[in-house]
Amino acid sequence: MLLGSTLITVIGLASSVQAWGGLGHKTVANVALQFLQEDALAGVEAVLAADGHKESDNPSIVDVATWADAFGRKKGGTFSKKFHYINAHDDPPFECNVDLERDCSEKGECIVKAIANYTQRLIRPSRNVNDTADALKFLVHFIGDITQPLHTEDKERGGNGIPVAWNGNGNKNLHSVWDTNMVKKLAGSDNEENLNAWTDIIVNEINNGSYKPLIPEWLNCTDPRDALNCALKWATDSNSFICTYVLKNDTDGWELSGSYYRGAAPIIQQQIAKGGVRLAVWLNQLFGSGEPGKLPLDRAQVIIQN
Ligand SMILES: *[C@@H]1O[C@H](CO)[C@@H](O)[C@H](O)[C@H]1NC(C)=O
Ligand SMILES: *[C@@H]1O[C@H](CO)[C@@H](O)[C@H](O)[C@H]1NC(C)=O
Ligand SMILES: *[C@@H]1O[C@H](CO)[C@@H](O)[C@H](O)[C@H]1NC(C)=O
Ligand SMILES: *[C@@H]1O[C@H](CO)[C@@H](O)[C@H](O)[C@H]1NC(C)=O
Ligand SMILES: *[C@@H]1O[C@H](CO)[C@@H](O)[C@H](O)[C@H]1NC(C)=O
Repeated sequence: MLLGSTLITVIGLASSVQAWGGLGHKTVANVALQFLQEDALAGVEAVLAADGHKESDNPSIVDVATWADAFGRKKGGTFSKKFHYINAHDDPPFECNVDLERDCSEKGECIVKAIANYTQRLIRPSRNVNDTADALKFLVHFIGDITQPLHTEDKERGGNGIPVAWNGNGNKNLHSVWDTNMVKKLAGSDNEENLNAWTDIIVNEINNGSYKPLIPEWLNCTDPRDALNCALKWATDSNSFICTYVLKNDTDGWELSGSYYRGAAPIIQQQIAKGGVRLAVWLNQLFGSGEPGKLPLDRAQVIIQN
């Protein structure tokens, strides 16, 4: 377990962007939940239960999956708005890449450094459990955000400046279509039934379907002590879809609900699945009993076979 003893003491005493929309973020968390070790689940639940700002009695990671979006809109939360993305100044569709020095703001405000920051805040938790809970809630959200390709791209403000049409409505932009319209078309609106149905589909693909052979690659960087490097790799992985699909053609003014959607849907579902398994192994190491950084891949496979 990576989590220091301070937090345990505290618990003992205390006894933007809308990437992937609400349903997408909740599904990332719900997929992760299916692969959490028992002790990791207990640790996560304890932190969320001790959170002074919790909005329900015993929140799960699913309940807090969209907290970071709401927090960013609050007066005291605007500092975190830039933490949801990294603006890669690459040259799509010809060249895609993420360069931390080039693309993260001078103050280090980008999703890659935010993931490293909040991971560190779980490795060495503050005496203030509210801060630790915030760190956990940020991570649950950002490990989802970083799989949205347009959260790793600068061009036209991550596609916000690219006008497109959706179901005949020409008043859309590419970013919001990726964030919400396509997710909705694929998995339905944000309710519990769709959450459980989509989670089941993804978990089956992971356990016993087309995702199974891809898991080692998805989890090829999963040591929280190496968070900056891993988050950069995750961003680079998402950013690669910008060149291979998202901006491969000039989509300016296009109707996207037809063939563009059909090609994008498998990418979206796979990115949600990636976020889910990465979040699970991250939390299993931070809150679970496994040795940190030691063969997280093997451990993940053991978990996944359960
Ligand atoms: C956590 O937040 C609650 C609600 O705002 C507050 O009452 C409590 O004092 C905070 N805890 C700490 C340790 O600051
Ligand atoms: C790290 O987290 C703290 C606490 O939320 C925040 O004040 C700071 O801006 C964060 N820095 C980065 C780079 O994310
Ligand atoms: C995997 O899928 C096969 C074929 O669909 C099925 O027979 C088998 O029971 C499944 N295994 C698990 C562990 O779900
Ligand atoms: C890790 O996996 C990513 C895809 O998730 C891939 O782009 C990268 O090349 C892999 N790196 C190594 C060292 O296998
Ligand atoms: C790009 O355009 C070509 C030619 O019209 C088409 O075959 C292909 O499916 C399009 N790809 C994407 C990602 O839009």
